[in-house]
Amino acid sequence: MKKFNKVGIIFLAVLSLNLFSCKENKSTMLNKNKPVIFYNRQPSDPITGKLDYSAVSWNSRTYYLGTDSQNGGETQGQQILDFLQNSNAEEIDRNGDGIIGYVLLIGDEGHIDSKARTEGVRRALDTWNNSTKPNIKKEGTVKIGNKSYKTVELAAKSMTGADGSTWNAATARESMKIWTNSFGKSIDLVISNNDEMALACLSSENFPKGLPVFGFDANDSVEKAIASGAITGTVTQNTDSQALALLFLVRNMCDGLLDAAVYTQGFSYGDKYGNKISTPFAYNEESRSLLVSNTAINKENWQEYKKTAHNSTITKTQGSKVKLLLTVYNSNNDFLNENFIPSINYYAPLLNIDVTIIYGDGQNENSCLSKFTNLSYYDAYAINLVKTNNAHLYTDKLILQ
Ligand code: BGC
Ligand code: CA
Repeated sequence: MKKFNKVGIIFLAVLSLNLFSCKENKSTMLNKNKPVIFYNRQPSDPITGKLDYSAVSWNSRTYYLGTDSQNGGETQGQQILDFLQNSNAEEIDRNGDGIIGYVLLIGDEGHIDSKARTEGVRRALDTWNNSTKPNIKKEGTVKIGNKSYKTVELAAKSMTGADGSTWNAATARESMKIWTNSFGKSIDLVISNNDEMALACLSSENFPKGLPVFGFDANDSVEKAIASGAITGTVTQNTDSQALALLFLVRNMCDGLLDAAVYTQGFSYGDKYGNKISTPFAYNEESRSLLVSNTAINKENWQEYKKTAHNSTITKTQGSKVKLLLTVYNSNNDFLNENFIPSINYYAPLLNIDVTIIYGDGQNENSCLSKFTNLSYYDAYAINLVKTNNAHLYTDKLILQ
């Protein structure tokens, strides 16, 4: 009897493994049962920021993978506060009026990473007035040394391009020019929701050299600016680990792992090849999201950060080939082009995953959706939404095909 139970359990375990394994069901598995990973743009309501739980519970193999937005915003805010508190305030307050004035470049009002950075910065500088909207803020105070300074957000704007694309560098450049002209020496800091817009400010007309600028992402393209101090600080969202995590999720699910094993194998413990991610991820049950923490980067630790670009412990797996279809919402996005995709391309062959990438234009969902085709050919899908409330448009296609 005892023996029978044991065999029964093993039999059941093997059965459930195979039922869900992409490998076993390659030709027969319906697309609606395959792994779906939303990444970088969390399914959510662009107005309220409320997470879209239905998108991530579409099937039992759907997850969101990204940065811990709140932690990202707090990290950026703290970095700016630390900078102020370690500076000579008289030099920072350029016009000597006792006010620290700053301008804020908002990436995408409907993107929770962007919202969280706006909030983190405003909270740290005491200008938070319970809203991430550009025009809702208050005056605050920060203490530098033993003196109190007033903090004023002189202007904040969503950097939407003429074509409707968000996180737009050209709009950032143009806005900075307008701000330089209208606020002059009242601007003491430039704070941006990402590096791409921060870099654009540096190249704007009459940009006051030496003005502290803060970005986000630790993109390759800011290397010179960080080294020279033209950009004072940025934050890495540990993108290399995010890319690896995405591929692990795919690998694990396609190898037939279920439930918690999907997001713990390779994360909190090594897989059978010893592969393990070096950065901690937090799993949130309700939003089925795996979120990585962020790290502040400046001139001092930039070199060290660069040296550990990829995780050298990842070795080739012997698992069967997996075909992944991955969408990129905007072919012109520096963060995805310089950070995320290179890491995907680095790790994918090591995990024996063939990645097909399709690119959108950053404004119309259809620019991605129209290429989200031939779906039965793939074993798994990774989706970077153009609009964060459009998840259903992709999953609807998976039901149909
Ligand atoms: C990045 C931005 C990027 C955006 C795209 C954010 O997490 O920090 O640089 O433009 O994702 O969705
Ligand atoms: Ca001032």
